[in-house]
Formats: sequence, structure tokens, C-alpha cells
Amino acid sequence: MKHVDIKNILSNADMVGREVVVCGWVRTFRDSAQVAFLELSDGSSFRKLQVVIDKGALSLDPETTKLGASVAVKGAVVKAYKGEGKELNAKEIALLGKCPPDYPIQKKRTTLDFLRTIPHLRLRTNTFAAVFRVRSVAAQAIHRYFHERGYYYINAPLITASDCEGAGEMFRVTTRPWNCAAKTEEEYYRGDFFGVKAGLSVSGQLEGEVAATALGKIYTFGPSFRAENSNTTRHLAEFWHVEPEIAFAELCDVLEIAEEMLKYLIQAVLDECPEELAFFDSFVEKGLIEKLTHVLRSDFAVCTYTEAISLLEKENARFAFPVHWGSDLQSEHEKYLTEQVFKRPVFVTNYPKEIKSFYMKQNADGKTVAAADLLVPGIGEIIGGSEREADLGKLMAAMSERGMDESAYRQYLDLRRFGSVPHGGFGLGFERFVMYCTGMENIRDVTLFPRSSKNIM
Ligand code: 4AD
Repeated sequence: MKHVDIKNILSNADMVGREVVVCGWVRTFRDSAQVAFLELSDGSSFRKLQVVIDKGALSLDPETTKLGASVAVKGAVVKAYKGEGKELNAKEIALLGKCPPDYPIQKKRTTLDFLRTIPHLRLRTNTFAAVFRVRSVAAQAIHRYFHERGYYYINAPLITASDCEGAGEMFRVTTRPWNCAAKTEEEYYRGDFFGVKAGLSVSGQLEGEVAATALGKIYTFGPSFRAENSNTTRHLAEFWHVEPEIAFAELCDVLEIAEEMLKYLIQAVLDECPEELAFFDSFVEKGLIEKLTHVLRSDFAVCTYTEAISLLEKENARFAFPVHWGSDLQSEHEKYLTEQVFKRPVFVTNYPKEIKSFYMKQNADGKTVAAADLLVPGIGEIIGGSEREADLGKLMAAMSERGMDESAYRQYLDLRRFGSVPHGGFGLGFERFVMYCTGMENIRDVTLFPRSSKNIM
């Protein structure tokens, strides 16, 4: 169907005077004695196009005026009667699809809770359409950022036999019937599709390291799966994960890259989605644009885990989970650090080895590892990364301390056997980044069909 996007009409001055066909969904209809106005949205931009109908010249099918109906309008683009914009003087209006009155997206019923029950229709609201345009722009910017800097884009497998984070949060991949009788776990999986226990990957990092130790700088950008039973506003069972991995890099390089990348992405969203951000600033998070520009201007703070714990211990009375050296940071601690203490993004580094993954580089103190989590106001942890343990003996010792089966990681260990190099990387939770840029407070509202425990609509 030959037609012009509303975005093109509204953003190009040379469209005035042109005859075009526009397709879209009716957002509002206003009627008067001689003229009627249809406001159309086709999803291409935040702004809608006003269609002006001269009722004397055009007989109007009432179905084309209903909220949610889809129409094709042929007409002439003109300067708007009021203001700077443009509008369309209709010559023909064709109905593409009727929309009966039980259309669920009605003006009065658009709470986020309600819209979560109709994920297939909620993108037709201003808020959700804006979220997904921002999400798309951010995804393109991720590829641009890495491509411009010479990183290669790698697709890590989604089905894997190794649990990267070692936290036992893998979904199992199986074709075996539920009532299969087997005496041992091993016997059970031997008869399964892969012949061993397989699952959906929690991270592409291990394969990313394979690629980085050959290509130098790589990134993956794809889904990761976590069977964690945390029904929070920032966890999904399926989320998109951006994971750069860099050879010849130490922890300080990882921090530098993470900060530069995050600022690049924020700048791209500010530049390419001004209308969406103005909307979010007005209706979702007051001061959002100022928050994002403040982040661009500030240097991210850096503090060690040990420093963070001594800051938090002073405030233990306010926390549901008081902290001590060795405890994992909960969301309340992360938020306190970034919102109350540093008031900007902060990297917390050098965590106790017991609460981090086996692959992280062991520091000389024998107690901590060269890890870094980036915490941001409003969200908490948005990035998790580290320098990797490049020493074969130390890596094997860490695996054996955790009771890990070495034979499942033979290839990973080979990277340390053959020309091992210092290297590191990090993972950005893409949905958490979209939340940060839009002010949306629930991760389910920045995901097309969110998957979480007991929820697969
Ligand atoms: O801190 P995580 O677990 O780190 C890793 O997976 C490393 N392998 C990354 C690496 O070094 N290449 O996860 C990284 C980020 C978190 O900071 C968070 O933003 C996001 O992934 N994340 C989730 N996002 C949504 N739902 C979940 N269940 C998430 N789990 C982690």
C-alpha cells in the first residue's frame, strides 16, 4: 500500500502542497457543523496528524471516525490553521478496519496495571508507543557505539550446557516426557536430546570470552534467561543483555568503557527521541531530562565494596536487611548508595569473592575479586562486570572451591592454557537501561511480552 509516514509529513517542510496517502488509527474525532477533525496515529512518531474534513465536500462513513478504527486518507498537506504544524485536507477516506466500542483502549481505562493485562494492544497508547520507540533507538545506538569503535558483533548460543553465573538459575531445555523413569540424574539426561543436562543461557559471556580472545573486542546483544523467582519490578525471566568483552583490558578499562557507552546511549536517546522524552518528563518522571543531562555532565563515582559497606553500616537501622562485610547488596542498599550518598551513577568494585562468580579475577588480598557493578538512581544495579581470572591455576582453584564440574568448562579453561591474556567485560541489562531513560518504574512496561514467574501471556 503506497503511503507516507506521518513522521515524514510532520518533519519535512517540503511536504506542504503535496498530495499524499496516509494510513493510521483514529485517536480522536471532533465534529462541527461544516468541518470535522480526525487525529491519526501511525506509530511513526509521537505527534499525530490532524485530518481536516470539509463535510460539504466529503460524505463521512461513521465507522471511519471511531476510536481505534484504521483508515487510509488521501489528501493535500497544508500548513496548520493554528500553530507551526501541518495538517491534511482530506479528499478521500477509506475504512481499513472497523473498531467496535468494546475496544479496550479507552481514555478512562489506561492505568499501567490494566494495560499489562492487554499486552497485545497496549502499544497503541502514547506511553507504550513512546517506550518502544526509545527502546528501538537505544538498540540501534548500542550497535553503532560498538561498531564505530571496532568491536565485532557476536551471537552467542542460547542453548548451553554451562551455567555462566553459577547461581543455578537456568531454565532446563529438554524433550523428555515428564514421567521418564531414570535411576540417576546422569542417566536421565543421557537419554535427553543433547545427551547431557542443557539449559537456556543466563549470559553470553563465556562464549564472548572465546571470541574476544581471538578477535580482540567483541559484544553480544541478545536474550538471557534467568529462572529466578524474584517477582520484582526489575527482574524478568527473559531479558536482553548487552555484553562487551575486551582482550588486553583490566578492571579500570572496563569501567571506562561502561561509562562511555552509557553516556553515548543516553545522548542518542536525548538526540533522537526529544518528543518521547518531553512526554516522559511531563507525565512519567518529572525532571527526567535534567536527570539524564546531569548524568552526561558528571563523572561516575567509584567506591570499593569495603567502603560501601562502611557507609551502609552507619545506616543499618534504616534497612530491612542490615549489612556487614561479606553480605550481598540488596536493592535498598544499592538505591541508598546511588540516590542518597553519591547522587549519581556509582561503580562499586572489588566485592568479596564468595558473593561473586567463579570467573572473576582474584585480587592480591586473597579476599576480593576485580568486579564492578554500576548502580544508578531509581534502578539500582544496571551493569555487572569484571576483569576475568586469566591464570589457569587460580581459575581452577575457584571452580573447585565451588564444587564445579571442570569437565563442563574444558573449552573455557583452554583459553587460559593457550595464550591467556588479561581481559574483561560487562553486562548491561537492556530493559533496565530503557527504564532509566523513560522513567518507567516496572520492567514489565518496557518489554513487549514480559516473562516472569507465573506470567507468560
Ligand atoms: O550482573 P549479571 O548477572 O552479570 C552477568 O551476567 C555477567 N555475565 C555479565 C558480563 O560480565 N558479561 O547481569 C548483568 C546485568 C545486570 O546488571 C542487570 O542489569 C541485568 O543484567 N540483569 C537482569 N535484567 C532483568 N532481569 C533479570 N532477571 C536480570 N538479571 C540480570
